[in-house]
Amino acid sequence: MQKELNAIVAGVREKTPVLSTRAEFEAYKATISGPKGVLTDVMKGMGKIPKEDKPAMGKLINEAKTAVTAEFDVVLERLEAAELAAKLGPAIDPTLPCPDSTRGTLHPIAQVREEMVELFRRIGFSVAEATEVETEHYCFDALNIPSDHPARDMQDSYYLPDDLTVNNVSKHADEKYLLRTHTSTVQIRTMLKEKPPIRIVAPGRCFRRDTPDATHSANFHQIEGLYVDKNVTLLDLKATLDHFVKTIFGPKAKTRLRPSFFPFTEPSFEMDFFSPDLGKLSNKWLEIMGCGMVDPEVFKAVGIDPEVYTGYAFGMGIERIAMILQGVDDIRYYYQNDIRFLKQFA
Ligand code: PHE
Repeated sequence: MQKELNAIVAGVREKTPVLSTRAEFEAYKATISGPKGVLTDVMKGMGKIPKEDKPAMGKLINEAKTAVTAEFDVVLERLEAAELAAKLGPAIDPTLPCPDSTRGTLHPIAQVREEMVELFRRIGFSVAEATEVETEHYCFDALNIPSDHPARDMQDSYYLPDDLTVNNVSKHADEKYLLRTHTSTVQIRTMLKEKPPIRIVAPGRCFRRDTPDATHSANFHQIEGLYVDKNVTLLDLKATLDHFVKTIFGPKAKTRLRPSFFPFTEPSFEMDFFSPDLGKLSNKWLEIMGCGMVDPEVFKAVGIDPEVYTGYAFGMGIERIAMILQGVDDIRYYYQNDIRFLKQFA
């Protein structure tokens, strides 16, 4: 029996290196260890062996089995590697130069965002951030937008499923998660974390259920500004925004504030600007942001004493500024990632 086993193992060692497909391998394996295989036959023969010889024979069979299995494992590994290589196609040389090896650039929206952030940094603002998933409290209530306010209408917002857990944003049981509709959420989160003086800008993505058209996108970007200190006045707001507009759109640009309404600022304004150097958009007032003095109700929601501190806030769409600056007349170009569009801003 020992001879027989040795012959089987030797045969397997000889045969396995030439097996080149999985089907061939499976067929061959069946002739060895399948139900009718030669090794299986030997094992079945154990029954007829005298009792005293059984332990020695059992050991020999086990050794043969181990040797054969090891051979089969090697084949299987080789065949699997070959199958993967076939799926991946011909080998590539990642060190070869790329056919179009021009370097990438920042996306045009990111370019404008960086320019705006830099401008505010230079005059003492730091950058604050918060999550894009928010709770109703931070997106609305703390900003003095009560639950019956039209801005909370389901139409405007992307609410998330009730059973969702978001580990880094805590919420009350009776609240909903939603994608933030504006970056004003960062005002609240910052005022809860920091003591005045606070001077931040918060760039980030926002989400509204707008019908997409040439000037609206359900996902867009804003920059929020917030300045809280003693004796902050409307004049500070106006001067800062004038500086912003003149730096971004040129020294000839003029600004104006028009009365408006936001629940979280009082008084509230829309700011327009006017420039003689804007091509098709020259010499007309263009509305670019909402702003105002922080409403005392907001200060109360974050535990800042409105008798001691005042502040201003503003918020604007980055796409809107980018479209004016870059002469883009359809917001959708920004999201299509068409290389012909993007290359114009390299
Ligand atoms: N959050 C407002 C919006 O999205 C903009 C705004 C920000 C207005 C700060 C006033 C102050 O429309």
